[in-house]
Amino acid sequence: MAGRLDGKVAIITGGSRGQGEAEARLFAAEGARVVVADVLEEQGQAVAASIGSTAIFERLDVSAEEDWARVVGATVDRFGSLTTLINNAGIVAFSAFEETSLEEYMRVINVNQIGTFLGMRSSIAALSEAGGGSIVNVASVEGLRGSNGLVSYGSSKWAIRGLTKIGSVELARRGIRVNTLLPGSVATPMAAPPPGATVDSKAMVADRPIQRAGTPLELAQAALFLAADESSYVSGAELVVDGAWTAGALIRGMPGHPG
Ligand SMILES: NC(=O)c1ccc[n+]([C@@H]2O[C@H](COP(=O)([O-])OP(=O)(O)OC[C@H]3O[C@@H](n4cnc5c(N)ncnc54)[C@H](O)[C@@H]3O)[C@@H](O)[C@H]2O)c1
Repeated sequence: MAGRLDGKVAIITGGSRGQGEAEARLFAAEGARVVVADVLEEQGQAVAASIGSTAIFERLDVSAEEDWARVVGATVDRFGSLTTLINNAGIVAFSAFEETSLEEYMRVINVNQIGTFLGMRSSIAALSEAGGGSIVNVASVEGLRGSNGLVSYGSSKWAIRGLTKIGSVELARRGIRVNTLLPGSVATPMAAPPPGATVDSKAMVADRPIQRAGTPLELAQAALFLAADESSYVSGAELVVDGAWTAGALIRGMPGHPG
């Protein structure tokens, strides 16, 4: 049976675990050749090895400009082209606004925002060469609102939405689509409550419309749609995958609340 990504070659940043790993596995199952690109070498090598000959691991720090040229080059050398870039790598940090040092702020901005910028810029030539392609930038619902304790993370995720909008406008005529995926909370190592928090993972989702976190596979399926040709007229768009978390308020004590 034909795969939804037959003929595609995808770099998936942060592919060693979590959502990126799920994307690497699903994309490969749908016919893509994938480059698992991450700073976590051992885990990334294992993911690529378990997928087989259609996957390789490349060490990539998304915030390091020189790493990008090497990884895009290695991708084209190994698989002949680059058609798809999933800018998924990210880190989170929790601190009160007033207590956030510039160093801490920049640590998150460098990975989430600068990493996305560098990934897009470094891939444009190869994507154009392939006749076009798809870039998926992974933001967060924290790029739609402001939450306490998340000044660096939230700022970086707002910026990613901007990178998508500008990229989608500039790159459309080169056949490159750019979209943002905005996960709610997803059951990965990142979603665990930080040290010192007084909520556990279950309490965090109790008041949400769908009272659970999403699975990495549920996010990978959304990324698959944006990567595949079936979304050929979708560009500059924002796909929120959050179980209705940001759709509105679920008010306890009012009709319609499940109790
Ligand atoms: N888990 C959630 O609840 C959630 C919610 C909204 C958005 N997101 C976003 O989804 C994306 C994937 O996160 P996840 O949930 O799979 O978390 P995760 O922590 O399991 O995975 C993140 C991956 O990114 C990699 N990474 C971190 N810094 C890197 C760097 N400098 N260069 C290359 N790779 C790097 C990590 O090694 C890891 O493999 C992130 O952008 C995250 O901000 C996650």
